[in-house]
Amino acid sequence: MSILRDLALAWQRRRHGLANRARPHAAAPSRLQANALIAAMPDIRPSHLETTLRLQCSRWLNGHRPARSMQASLLALSQVAEASLPLDVYGDGIAMQTLEADVAALLGKPAASFFHKGVAAQLAALRGWCGEGQGPVALHPQCHIAVDESDAFEHLMGLRGLQVGAPDTPFTVQALQALPEKPAVVVVELPLRRAGFQLTAWDDLVAISDWCRREGIALHLDGARLWEAQPHYERPLAEIAALADSVYVSFYKGLGGLSGAMLLGSEAFIEALRPWKSRLAGNVYTLYPFVLSAFQGLREQLPHMADYRNRARNLAAHLARVPSWHVAPEPPPTNSFQLHLPVAPDALRETMLAVAREQGFWLGARTTPSHKIADGAMVEVVVGNAAQDWTDDEVVTLWQQVVSAAQR
Ligand SMILES: Cc1ncc(COP(=O)(O)O)c(C=O)c1O
Repeated sequence: MSILRDLALAWQRRRHGLANRARPHAAAPSRLQANALIAAMPDIRPSHLETTLRLQCSRWLNGHRPARSMQASLLALSQVAEASLPLDVYGDGIAMQTLEADVAALLGKPAASFFHKGVAAQLAALRGWCGEGQGPVALHPQCHIAVDESDAFEHLMGLRGLQVGAPDTPFTVQALQALPEKPAVVVVELPLRRAGFQLTAWDDLVAISDWCRREGIALHLDGARLWEAQPHYERPLAEIAALADSVYVSFYKGLGGLSGAMLLGSEAFIEALRPWKSRLAGNVYTLYPFVLSAFQGLREQLPHMADYRNRARNLAAHLARVPSWHVAPEPPPTNSFQLHLPVAPDALRETMLAVAREQGFWLGARTTPSHKIADGAMVEVVVGNAAQDWTDDEVVTLWQQVVSAAQR
């Protein structure tokens, strides 16, 4: 009991800005102690509770099995081969440079630059392609840059968006040809997450690339999930990347890393963006945990992207067989898809959290109104290694229980 009291007192002291007098070599807290520490937090936010609840579960439907603590995460990273190399400092370090060279080779691009955030990498890329001007930047109305970044490309970079294509479907070259003005750069998000992780068809992608080259317009790929898209195209990553002038990839989605991104392009393009990396707060003092987790993801997750995609197809087919449920896209081209259910979003969310509390199964905590089922809800299903702990039938049964409980 005294350990719990000590932890609670330590928390209170830290909260009130008092020196933490913990012994420097005290053993790392156990999970029980960590839970006590969490319980002692007086003003814990609901989102903290959800994060904690997720880590206390025994099975997860989405993504990869999570590290249960910072300690577990750091221990796993310490096993990565590059962990014995020196720490990078302001982006310089042998591990960082090796990672950049490895990813450049994988994507067949001459140069690569690590960024702490994809948002920053893409803002820099767009500024690079637009020079001193405003663009315009041709992008899909549901892409991450247009929807999820609080219009940073306009507010921070002074650029102007030119929306292309219709909601819920990737755009084609015909939509680009119909634009009222010539863009400086075209952005294609592969897959288009907010449209249900849909992928531009290969022939459409080639036509977009050819048209951009003919017109002297830069083509940038938002490849946050390019790793996950590759099995659908059945072509090497470098062949896909060769269609574009610049590509951004993420290390923390399908690859399951801590965070981090890479921007790839010609030597001159990447070199010219150096000042923009600093301006966008990308010159972080050291990034080694992110670098190690990127190596880890490339080795442990990248080889399984086709398995995750195949599993997503099977699971989607099972779920789509339930009357009045809807899966989109069907079949999913990547490891991810939308599941539309005939139940109100708030009720569904509450039931999903109750299942996590009572049964230890994490189905996620985000529900949005469905655009396929009137008054229904949509959840995203993202297949990673955590799905290996379930059979397709178990997943269907659990969702059926959740839906009928939420309908009551
Ligand atoms: C399609 C897409 N692009 C860009 C980003 C931005 O990545 P980051 O979180 O590294 O800034 C995300 C993040 O979710 C994304 O889904």
